[in-house]
Amino acid sequence: MREHRRVWFLTSNKGKFREAQAVATASGLQLQMLAAPKIEIQSDNLSEIASYGAQEAAKRLGIPVVAEDAGLFIRSLNGFPGPYSSDVFKRLSNKGILKLMEGVSKRNAKFSSVAAFCAPSRKPRCFTGSVFGYIGLRPRGVGGFGFDPIFIPTKGDGRTFAQMTVREKNRLSHRAASFKKLSKWLLTVQANWLKTPLANDTAQNQPGCLRERLK
Ligand code: IMP
Repeated sequence: MREHRRVWFLTSNKGKFREAQAVATASGLQLQMLAAPKIEIQSDNLSEIASYGAQEAAKRLGIPVVAEDAGLFIRSLNGFPGPYSSDVFKRLSNKGILKLMEGVSKRNAKFSSVAAFCAPSRKPRCFTGSVFGYIGLRPRGVGGFGFDPIFIPTKGDGRTFAQMTVREKNRLSHRAASFKKLSKWLLTVQANWLKTPLANDTAQNQPGCLRERLK
């Protein structure tokens, strides 16, 4: 059996983690969820946001960390909500986006994801993934999270992401693409980082202690 290498993924979003974990596991990398608030900077660039989060977490924790930033970019809204997707989803949710899109016939959109890896005292490395699609006329499906009920991928069968299983979404999604690249790179180019004692097994690197060090 192929040996699984481990790395922490800093996210409190279970849906995100489930998708990323499935992709990483298939590549032979074991992602562990570190459920803590994201370390964020104000930026309109997903790579800058993901890099900063990974670098700052690696510095505070003293171990390699993965962070991700993602967003929905709607063409007729000039790329809105883009890097502000998280705040916009909290304030407007899918209903608000559909309201902004009322009467709009060109509904093209894309999701983008940037997964960043950073080891302590090193520069972060970013991997990107995108998926093109369009915004539906009404929400459909109960799976997934966030904007999944209103996003219909062009290369799919007409269902929204929320109507798909994780496995189906991962065949098409922005996140599957970025984490596939990240996993491959980590397991080949950066294999040494994964061999160092990540100390997942030591007392000071249990999730509770890690979360304390992030504060
Ligand atoms: P962040 O990467 O945690 O800042 O997430 C940005 C926001 O974009 C999330 O809170 C979701 O609302 C939305 N989002 C990102 N990726 C997805 C996805 O795969 N499906 C649905 N919504 C997503």
